[in-house]
Amino acid sequence: MDSILVTGNGPLNGEIPIAGAKNACLTLMPATLLSDEPLTLTNAPRLSDIRTMTALLQSLGAEVSALQGGKVLAMSSHGLNNHTADYDIVRKMRASILVLGPMLARDGHAVVSLPGGCAIGARPVDLHLKALEAMGAEMDLRDGYVHAKAPGGRLRGGVVEFPFVSVGATENALLAATLAKGTTVLKRAAREPEIIDLANCLRAMGAQIEGDGTDTITIQGVDRLNGATHPVVSDRIELGTYMLAPAICGGEVELLGGKRSLLEAFCQKLEEAGVEITETDKGLKVRRKMDRVRAVDVVTEPFPGFPTDLQAQMMALMCTADGVATLEEKIFENRFMHAPELIRMGAQIDVHGGTATVTGVKQLKGAPVMATDLRASVSLILAGLAAEGETRVSRVYHLDRGYEHVVRKLSAVGAKIERIKEE
Ligand code: EPZ
Repeated sequence: MDSILVTGNGPLNGEIPIAGAKNACLTLMPATLLSDEPLTLTNAPRLSDIRTMTALLQSLGAEVSALQGGKVLAMSSHGLNNHTADYDIVRKMRASILVLGPMLARDGHAVVSLPGGCAIGARPVDLHLKALEAMGAEMDLRDGYVHAKAPGGRLRGGVVEFPFVSVGATENALLAATLAKGTTVLKRAAREPEIIDLANCLRAMGAQIEGDGTDTITIQGVDRLNGATHPVVSDRIELGTYMLAPAICGGEVELLGGKRSLLEAFCQKLEEAGVEITETDKGLKVRRKMDRVRAVDVVTEPFPGFPTDLQAQMMALMCTADGVATLEEKIFENRFMHAPELIRMGAQIDVHGGTATVTGVKQLKGAPVMATDLRASVSLILAGLAAEGETRVSRVYHLDRGYEHVVRKLSAVGAKIERIKEE
């Protein structure tokens, strides 16, 4: 397993381009199952999760061609000949569950392995199943698979009341509702930018959707959808991650393609901590106003609140802040595994239940640390950029799931970072 070696090397200066959003691309790709005409995605990120979703769609008989080095995904599912998503692929990435709704909507039946949990929590899919049942689907759970059927071969419109916000369940329901007979209303729907991006793509395919971006989405089902070409929205989590690099190291970095509107709550927290964010015609310029940022308190919430996917990275910044910060993780039950690794670097963190209390220290020290999940891995790299000496982050396969060319992007702004290939 490869590792990444990063050595604290002072302020960072220059430009970092932001790629297309992993979490948008992973819900856009299953949309190809809704039509037998070609769907092409541009601005796609080159990530291992995208390759996993590609393999899953191909296992169902869909064609997926990665063009221009993977930035363009040309897809077509006219050859769909298998309605079973196998455990050996689904277990690698829980977003695989997003093929359930589209397959059910298109052909009236689907068999999808239950994804299983992951490092950050149990992550059940009960809300996905309940939403599809509200559209008439019959679900039979046996031998680790969901066997789903739509009576008469077609879903019907219904009212879906989510008990709490779920991004994935909203996406599965939205995908399925486009072809259901009649009107579907999703209540307490997720409002993330990736949901709006999915709705924009589905509308380009001929779907009738209103209210995306609010907590109530209304879909008028249609009989068929056409092909389309759609650009994947910019990755707000990659954006936020790299905004933290000059905040923790000093210097000034411009994030190309960054849009503040995708991360308002996060930007306000950074400004509260003493970071200056300037909107430019190329993106966002970020620098800290003084030698040390101030400690600020964070609570993770569904959009438009502070994103849970930036909690680990913000914790790295708070480890070097002036003062005591509390970070409350309200979305996942076990998303503080980066804390013990940061403590190995001299951070002072107390974790009690869903709250971490961080007492900032003047200087972190480099150390060998281990990545435990995607966002934890990059928080350790951020800490290593600011630490004195060398930090070796092992198990960087986690990183490859969600960040393309980390070494290249950070080296370009002056970071001392390299990837160590290990057999
Ligand atoms: C999406 O996961 C993202 N993944 C996650 O990003 C992100 O952290 C999460 O949304 C929250 O923003 C993708 O988009 C591929 P949820 P998802 O359903 O859809 C519970 C990353 O780092 N829940 O909004 O799985 C669940 O356990 C990843 O890029 C149920 O109980 O998140 C969690 O506690 C990590 N039953 C909470 O709801 C369900 O049926 C929110 O989960 C579904 C979810």
